[in-house]
Parts: sequence; structure tokens; C-alpha cells
Amino acid sequence: ELPYAEPYKIKMVESINRSTKEQRLKWIKKANYNLFNLTSDKVFIDLLTDSGTGAMSDKQWAEMMIGDESYAGSSSFLKLKKTVKKITGFKYFLPTHQGRAAENVLFSALVKEGDIVPGNSHFDTTKGHIEFRKATAIDCTIDEAFDTSKIHPFKGNIDIQKLKSVFKKYPAKKIPLVILTITCNSSGGQPVSVQNVKEVSKLCKQYNVPLFFDSARFAENAYFIKKREKGYESKTIKEIAKEVFSYGDGMTMSAKKDGLVNMGGFIALNSKEIFKQATVFNIMFEGFITYGGMNGRDMGALAIGLDEATEFNYLESRVEQVAYLGNKLVEFGVPVQQPIGGHAIFLDANKFVPNIPREEYRAQALAIEIYVVGGIRGVEIGTVLADRDPITRENRYPELELVRLAVPRRTYSNNHMDYIAVALKNIYDTRNEAKTGYVITEEAPIMRHFTTKFKKV
Ligand code: F0G
Repeated sequence: ELPYAEPYKIKMVESINRSTKEQRLKWIKKANYNLFNLTSDKVFIDLLTDSGTGAMSDKQWAEMMIGDESYAGSSSFLKLKKTVKKITGFKYFLPTHQGRAAENVLFSALVKEGDIVPGNSHFDTTKGHIEFRKATAIDCTIDEAFDTSKIHPFKGNIDIQKLKSVFKKYPAKKIPLVILTITCNSSGGQPVSVQNVKEVSKLCKQYNVPLFFDSARFAENAYFIKKREKGYESKTIKEIAKEVFSYGDGMTMSAKKDGLVNMGGFIALNSKEIFKQATVFNIMFEGFITYGGMNGRDMGALAIGLDEATEFNYLESRVEQVAYLGNKLVEFGVPVQQPIGGHAIFLDANKFVPNIPREEYRAQALAIEIYVVGGIRGVEIGTVLADRDPITRENRYPELELVRLAVPRRTYSNNHMDYIAVALKNIYDTRNEAKTGYVITEEAPIMRHFTTKFKKV
């Protein structure tokens, strides 16, 4: 049999900079040991995020040229609206400038002080928008998700018993919605099964609570369903995605991921009433309802991107590239969240650098080391990201201390993956030398991870 090869060839290239370890040591100190403070020319392989960092196709770029920039009733908007309807099945659609803007608009209509919003490890902006409204996000993810070495095909699933106990504890009027994130970024890019979606949907209907999907990586989720769930082997990605959406009431979307664009987002939903309320906030925060903060040309490129992202051949090359890197790391013994997620590798810092005290931000320390050794930029998903408890102001120590290496879509080659794997092996082989981490010298009151300043212990 012939080996696997990507279903695309390269039409345009972008140079990236190599640097020395000495240079990087100097740069990261100057950046107050926060990887967000590094300018991109100081990074060789940028795995900070898979959000808005992918490569658009020739067809998307062609669409950019015919974008309709009319303030109202743009034909690019109509193209996007039609594609969103085709792919999600939801009746109403509102464009926004990115995913958190969709959250802001939707939650402005739905979430009030004192409310409870259950879900599967809400993403930090989602949680931020909930807590900003003095409401509470409750994590109902299955316990298996918090054991990185446990193999489970759908670690993004909601534990039905946990969800049921939330529904029993609080009156339905206090629970404006349930948010199911597909795939679940915070637990490692882990998918949710159709069976789980159905069970969650059934329970939500029973308690009269709307179910919304945080759909940033819905296509990657559908790919895992096709590969792992019985009965879905011969369904197309588009059929699977549409079936998943059919069990919910609406969605928010960060189009920067599975929309294959650099910027954009939207809300889609079935309730005319919620749509009407959200429309008011969309106009206030985002722009008129036929652009919502996006350029016409970007809406056109997104329409094409959604179509491309829900094609099997594209998804196979994307998800399997991430698995290629992950499997190399597993071979080297490096502790990673398993099975490998759809968009990123999640290194388990609790197992990787257990000698660095938790209070000294061991995942942050590991992320810095990866940059210093390889010029590779990942991101901490641990105590720094988890922020302080809004009431006690104490650090919240999450069950998992992770470093995420997110792989941009259609951007790096497998040579880059090999380079990353060897850099990590080298760090892993000398891990016992790492004994101290960092302390915070300055931080913001909410979503601190972007701007926190650190110094070495
Ligand atoms: N929901 C999920 C699951 C996300 O991963 C993100 C963003 C958002 C919502 C917010 O979307 O960035 O367009 O405003 N995740 C990026 C990341 C930032 O790096 O994982 P946004």
C-alpha cells in the first residue's frame, strides 16, 4: 500500500525565523516570561493557537476578491447565511466578529446574575462571559477526561448524572442554557459522541432548558464520530454535523477554527424570540445584522471555509497530522492527554515536571522551557489560565496542569512535527533538573493569562 500524503499542494509560502537558545533566553526574560508578549518574529514554530492561524485555500482567496462590502444586504452575507443553514440546519443566523463576541451577544440575551450554566469544561472566554454576568458555570464533564492516560473515545462527553443533579438542585428558570463544547478544547480537544448529545438533549428537553453548542471545532468532532462511533462509519461529515446540531436549539461559533478563516464568528439558532433579543445586542456590540463586525469578503471566505472544513479528505489530513505528532511523543514516553485530541497536543505538566511546585505554575514553566529549547510557542492551560476564584480571590488549581501545543490548519509540514517531537524528547530526558518555577509579579483581575508578568523563583 502507498503511504499517506496530504490532499493539497502549496501555492504560497511564508518564511519563519530560526534563532539561538541564547537569543530566546534573552527575549523571554524581556517578555516577563509570558509567551503572549513575544513578537512572532521571535518564534520558529507557533503553536500558541489553532485559532485564526490556518491557511486559506485558493478558492477562499478567490472569494475575497468578489466580497460585497454593502452595509446592508450584502450578497456575501447571503452566501454565508445559506451555507450556515445548509451545514447546521438552524433557522436564524447572526454574524459576529469572533466566537467570544457570539457568546457576548447570546449571553446578553439569556444569562442573568445568579444563573447557572452547566456544560463540559467551558472554554475560558465562555466562562469569562458567564462569570462577568455574576452567573456560574458548572463543569459536568465525565471523570475520565481528567485522567490523561485513560483511553476513552469521547472524553468530551457530559456525565448525565452530574447534569441531572444540577437540574435537580436549581430551578429551570435559573438555568438559561446548557453549553456543549464540540470538540471540548479545555479537556484536550476531546470529542463528544452523538449518543451523549442525544442523552443531554433529552434531559434538557425534560427540564425545559435550551441546549446550545459551542461549535468552534464541530467538524473535527464529526470526524471523530465517523472514526469512533458505531453506526456512523459510512455517513458523511456533513451528515454527522447536521445530525448533531439537530439535537440542539442553537450554537455559537468561532469561525477562526473550523471556519478556516482568520477572523469571524456567528450565532445560529431556532428560536425566533431569542433571535430577536440577540439581534438588539448584535447591533449594539457588533454591527448591523448583515455583517456583525465582519467584512463582506471575510463572510464569503467563511462560506467556502465551512464547506471545505466539513470534507473528509481535509479533516483526515488535519486530525491525523495532530495524531502523527502526538503518537511520536507517546513513543518517546512524553506524558500527553490520550487519546490525542483534534487540534492540539496537551502535555501533562503534573507528570512531566512534578518537582516544580504547583504554586510555582509548573505548566507555565514547561511552556517557557519548550520555547527556550526549540523556539516553539505553546500555551499554558493550568493554574494561570484558571484565574482566581471570583469570591475568595485565591488561585484555582485545576485538576489538570497542561501545556497545549495547538496545530494551525494546513500550515506546517510533518518535518515541523518531527522537529517539535525531538525538542520535546530532549526536554523530557532532562526533566528532573527542573525544580523551581515562577511567581506572578503583576496580573489582571479577569482573564489574567494574556498579560500576567512573571519572574523566576
Ligand atoms: N469556544 C472555544 C471552544 C474556543 O476554543 C474559543 C477560542 C472560543 C470559544 C472563543 O472564540 O477566540 O473566536 O473569540 N479559542 C482560542 C484557542 C482562543 O486558542 O483555543 P474566539
